[in-house]
Amino acid sequence: MKAAIIKKKRVLSVEDIDKPRIAGNEILVKVKASGVCGTDVHVYEDEVPIAKLPVIPGHEFSGEVEAIGGDVKDVKVGDRVAVEPNLFCGQCHFCRTAKKHFCENWAAVGLTRSGGFAEYCAVPRQAVYKIEDKLGFNEAAFFEPVACVLHGIERSQLKAGDTAAVMGAGSIGLIYVQALKALGVKNVISCDIDDKKLKIAKGLGADRALNTKTDDVVGIVKDMTGGLGVESVIDAAGAKATLSMAFSLVQNCGSVVVFGVPTEPMEINMYDIYRREISVVGSFTNPYTNEQALKLLAAGRIKFDQILTHAVSIDGVEAAMIKMRDKTETVIKAQIRF
Ligand SMILES: NC(=O)c1ccc[n+]([C@@H]2O[C@H](COP(=O)([O-])OP(=O)(O)OC[C@H]3O[C@@H](n4cnc5c(N)ncnc54)[C@H](O)[C@@H]3O)[C@@H](O)[C@H]2O)c1
Ligand SMILES: [Zn+2]
Ligand SMILES: [Zn+2]
Repeated sequence: MKAAIIKKKRVLSVEDIDKPRIAGNEILVKVKASGVCGTDVHVYEDEVPIAKLPVIPGHEFSGEVEAIGGDVKDVKVGDRVAVEPNLFCGQCHFCRTAKKHFCENWAAVGLTRSGGFAEYCAVPRQAVYKIEDKLGFNEAAFFEPVACVLHGIERSQLKAGDTAAVMGAGSIGLIYVQALKALGVKNVISCDIDDKKLKIAKGLGADRALNTKTDDVVGIVKDMTGGLGVESVIDAAGAKATLSMAFSLVQNCGSVVVFGVPTEPMEINMYDIYRREISVVGSFTNPYTNEQALKLLAAGRIKFDQILTHAVSIDGVEAAMIKMRDKTETVIKAQIRF
């Protein structure tokens, strides 16, 4: 089979290797669509310590069951599936207290073991979720990011009728906009620095799309909310500028969700937290949101045609990752198709 292997920092080679063999509790997935994530680019740059090179990356994929191990009873050859890359032991303190995303024996497809940048990928039974026939493979490859977004929404404590600001209109921000609308959030304000992305956000249902460089974001948001600010600001940019702006956009007792990976340390005014009862909450991965993500995907509530800017073959994945790294083109989302 063909596989894209990151051999060492900035060296990716597409090679013909043996199909993986599966253990009793494993499933061999014939990969159909495999999303390229910023994390894969960080692995390519050898910046992810838990991903020991060489590794086949790829943790956002869907496909068809090609073979099942002897102990697998409830999945059959030919089933259409999406893969949950995070693997949990079920036995540690965190797994036993409903916080499996902090599993002490955590492993991940595409990081600590071979992932979906290959024609076939072996995964444990626990990683496999069957998908409905009407859900396309390209859409199903967004299973993990959609599930992460749903965890962020849980962390925000947003309710139907509320107003939210989403900082960043990359692939994640654009999923947030649509998921928030689908869940009944009344006003969703999308913010970015790229007018092309803001136009897409508007088309996907954002009530306002604001440029943090050229619009008076704080003034407009205050106007839209009767001077109060939004119930929640979800940061899907990871920038110091958006995270600091969040405190001027959020209303008293509201939440700031740190979802984007912050790239530099910053100071928070603790007086705000105290006096305005602002909750600053982190959101890490997708614990217990997979089933909901599948329902949202199957309902067709999230559209991906404008998010999927680059469909590539496995031979084109390195070039796509370099474009993402160097920002020489607007790559909202690249996906390998098999
Ligand atoms: N918490 C989790 O579980 C989880 C899961 C997946 C991704 N992430 C993180 O979420 C973030 C978003 O992911 P993505 O794939 O959409 O990334 P992306 O880089 O495609 O999107 C980030 C967006 O933020 C915008 N941005 C940057 N500076 C800005 C500013 N000052 N004002 C407004 N917008 C600004 C960029 O223009 C870009 O459109 C990343 O940090 C990613 O690592 C977190
Ligand atoms: Zn990812
Ligand atoms: Zn565990």
